[in-house]
Amino acid sequence: MSQITDPRDRLIVALDLADVEAARALVDRIGDAATFYKIGYRLGYNGGLGFARALTERGLKVFLDLKLHDIGNTVEEGVRAVADLGVSFLTVHAYPQTMRAAVRGRSGDLKILAVTVLTSYDEADAAEAGYALPVAEMVAKRAEQAREIGIDGIVCSAAEAVAVRGVVGPDRLIVTPGIRPVGSDLGDQKRVLTPGEARRAGIDHVVVGRPIAGAADPRAVAQAIVREMETA
Ligand code: C5P
Repeated sequence: MSQITDPRDRLIVALDLADVEAARALVDRIGDAATFYKIGYRLGYNGGLGFARALTERGLKVFLDLKLHDIGNTVEEGVRAVADLGVSFLTVHAYPQTMRAAVRGRSGDLKILAVTVLTSYDEADAAEAGYALPVAEMVAKRAEQAREIGIDGIVCSAAEAVAVRGVVGPDRLIVTPGIRPVGSDLGDQKRVLTPGEARRAGIDHVVVGRPIAGAADPRAVAQAIVREMETA
C-alpha cells in the first residue's frame, strides 16, 4: 500500500486557474488545509512551471499534469528537467516507449503517473483514432504494461479504479479526479465518487478542482474532504 503519513496529502487541489496570481491567491486562502496542488496545461503554459518551483520551495507538493508523449529521448530529458523542479508527480501517456523513457529520466522524489486512456474517449473515439481493442481492455493492457515497466501510479476515473487496482496490485498509486463532496455541483463530471467512497475504493489520492476553487470558503471545503477520507 502507499506510504501516506500526512492525511492532507491524499487531497490534490487542481489549480485550473488562468494565471499565477489567481493560483497564488487560492493557495494562500487554503493555507495549511492542503499540502498538494495540481498544475495542468492552462497554468503550466502561463508561468505555472516557475510557480511549481515556488510551491515546492514552500514545502508544498506539486503534481504536474503535463501528459507527456514524444520520442524517448525527448521524454527522458523532459522528465529529467521536471525532476529538477522538485515536484512529486508527473503524468505521461501510457505508451510503453514513453513510459520506459519517463522511468529512465525519473530521479529524486519524482513519481511518474500514467494516463491509460483519456476518459473523454468512448469506443467510437478509440475506433476513430485507429484502435481495435475496446476501451476497457486497452485500459487494462496499458495498466499492466505500466506496472511491468515500473511506473509509480495510474491516473484513472473513479469508475475504473477498482479494475485498475486489480491489475496493478497494492503497491502502485491510484490517483482519481471526478470527486465530489456530498451536495456539490457535478459540473461536467458524470460518474463521481465522494471522498469517502474514493478512499474505500482503494484510491490513494483524489484530485478536486472546482468544488474547492469555486467555494465561498475553499479552506473549509479542503478540510472537510481530508476529514472525510481520513474517517472512511
Ligand atoms: O474541477 P474538477 O474537480 O472537475 O477538476 C478535476 C481535475 O481533474 C481537472 O484538472 C481535470 O482536468 C482533471 N481530469 C478530470 N477528468 C478526467 C481527467 C482529468 O476531471 N477524466
